[in-house]
Amino acid sequence: RPRADLLIRRAEQVVTLDGHSKRPVRGEIREATLGIVEDGAVACVGDRILAAGGTAEVEAAVAWDAGTIVIDARDRVVLPGWVDCHTHAIYAGDRAHEWARRLRGESYLDILRAGGGILETVRATREADTETLVRATVARLRRMLALGTTTVEVKSGYALSVEGELRLLQALQAVDELVPMQLVPTLLGAHAVPENHRASPDAYVELVTEQMLPRIAATPGLAAFCDVFCEDGAFTAEQARRILRRARELGLGLKVHADQFHATGAARVAAEMGAVSADHLNATPPDDLAAVARAGTVAVLLPAADLLARPPGPAPVAVMRELGVPMALATDHNPGTAPVESMPLVMGLACSWLGMTPEEAVAAATINGAHALALGHEVGSLEPGKRADLVVAQAASYLEIPYRLGVDLVRVVVSGGRVVRG
Ligand code: NIG
Ligand code: FE
Repeated sequence: RPRADLLIRRAEQVVTLDGHSKRPVRGEIREATLGIVEDGAVACVGDRILAAGGTAEVEAAVAWDAGTIVIDARDRVVLPGWVDCHTHAIYAGDRAHEWARRLRGESYLDILRAGGGILETVRATREADTETLVRATVARLRRMLALGTTTVEVKSGYALSVEGELRLLQALQAVDELVPMQLVPTLLGAHAVPENHRASPDAYVELVTEQMLPRIAATPGLAAFCDVFCEDGAFTAEQARRILRRARELGLGLKVHADQFHATGAARVAAEMGAVSADHLNATPPDDLAAVARAGTVAVLLPAADLLARPPGPAPVAVMRELGVPMALATDHNPGTAPVESMPLVMGLACSWLGMTPEEAVAAATINGAHALALGHEVGSLEPGKRADLVVAQAASYLEIPYRLGVDLVRVVVSGGRVVRG
């Protein structure tokens, strides 16, 4: 019998989400889809899961000794670590004052057009030295980790120059060394048109396709994905297509900020180009959502941004469910529209506000988030061989996590086999 380094036993429930590593979960998600085991256990060795299932079954399958960490999980629920598949966590400054202006009626896109919003954070980020950026980002990610996020995607996008975006992605490599979580870096060079290219946005698009992308793709591991903010006042669907096509040629995966405020055709472009995810989708017409469903592109819903940025309406969960669009959830952590770090809070908003079922929210925060990062084989469920990333929450059932909005129920977090909280 293989020896376990870590054994979590006698949990009220272990929510394994097993069987969904190949394809995202879509359509009707029931309790059975979640692979729930009562009186459950999980055993880990090194950074991997050895076994997950009933306590008796797991204890019969593995060996343990005085060196094994044993955690009693009575009155607790064990789930896969959250996969926060969309954040902008590397930046300097904050925009609380802009948030207050928006609460008095100003619009997010008008502020951006006037040179504020994203462009204000760009100025602050360009001015910050790398050590400051690394320190601030590490602090944010550590707080996310304490709330159960074990995999996090982080986008660049607050530099908007070749050297600047490169510096942010290199800083993320330093961050990755300092935080025990899986960090997935994304290039978002096309986050806004920088001030010096205002007169000719196409020239900036060309800079991205001809200089930024080749430069960044030349260093393996610097960026796994390329993303574009496709929106009135940012980039058009046609410009997005040019950028994504080049990124795909260079071997990067694709993501799109699509239709947050206006129907731009971006979700359709994401589907056409085979993007792993199309994110936001507040204003996407049903036909385009159907294209997303057909392509198997994951819809990443960002309820915190829906709450703060005030798009025309929240993401259309019922339509997506009907069309079989696979749904993931993320914080969208950024200083403008989502100063949020908590995936449980996002799950709560997704249910009580957007109308997701708790089962959909649990799948969306774990295995479907993994698929939105092309990591379905590696994280997002509790199955032998996968990364030992898990959350132990003080609850009788997984329902309590989205139900108890804003309450931190997380007691233990294990990331890559290490107990990082608890
Ligand atoms: O996903 N909408 C574009 N990007 C971010 C916001 C970034 C910012 O406002 O700084 C988002 O909401
Ligand atoms: Fe975003």
